[in-house]
Amino acid sequence: MTRIFVNGSMNFNGNTARLGNEIFRGLEHTPINLSKLHINQIGQESGQQQDDFQKVMKQLIMTDDIVIGTPVYWSSMSGYLKTFIDRFADVLDAPLAGKRVYLLVQGTEPEDAIPYITNVIRQLCRHFHMKYMGIATNSSEASKLHHLLINKK
Ligand SMILES: Cc1cc2nc3c(=O)[nH]c(=O)nc-3n(C[C@H](O)[C@H](O)[C@H](O)COP(=O)(O)O)c2cc1C
Repeated sequence: MTRIFVNGSMNFNGNTARLGNEIFRGLEHTPINLSKLHINQIGQESGQQQDDFQKVMKQLIMTDDIVIGTPVYWSSMSGYLKTFIDRFADVLDAPLAGKRVYLLVQGTEPEDAIPYITNVIRQLCRHFHMKYMGIATNSSEASKLHHLLINKK
């Protein structure tokens, strides 16, 4: 089984990464830090140089479990993650069906943002026929998702 952690935080070792560590608890996985990559906004020309979107998409296609983490910025997901998700509109036929998706959200007062972020990720899952497994915003929820991650159904 392969696992990927798509981290939408600007901090590689911040709270979102910490919650990522709690869901994986040492399980092998590939971290993808969106802020380290160059992903164009949808509709922007990339010129001669390809951006990193297709590279990440290829990794997602090859994996079983996708953990998506984001901090809350201004009552929303991070721009890194939103830019990345918008680009899925370029690959609407991508073979992602059956992949399990777990959501991690970190914020100082994330309550207002959670319904919106959850809705976006659920909509993404519906379109691509991926299985939304749930959200964690704290250690105890991350622990529950960890058990889902290791108990394959
Ligand atoms: C630009 C910016 C905007 C933020 N806006 C919110 C917000 O609206 N609601 C919230 O709960 N936290 C907000 N925060 C706090 C972060 O979500 C919080 O510190 C989070 O744990 C950071 O995760 P990280 O350590 O992975 O970067 C904001 C932080 C930044 C930098």
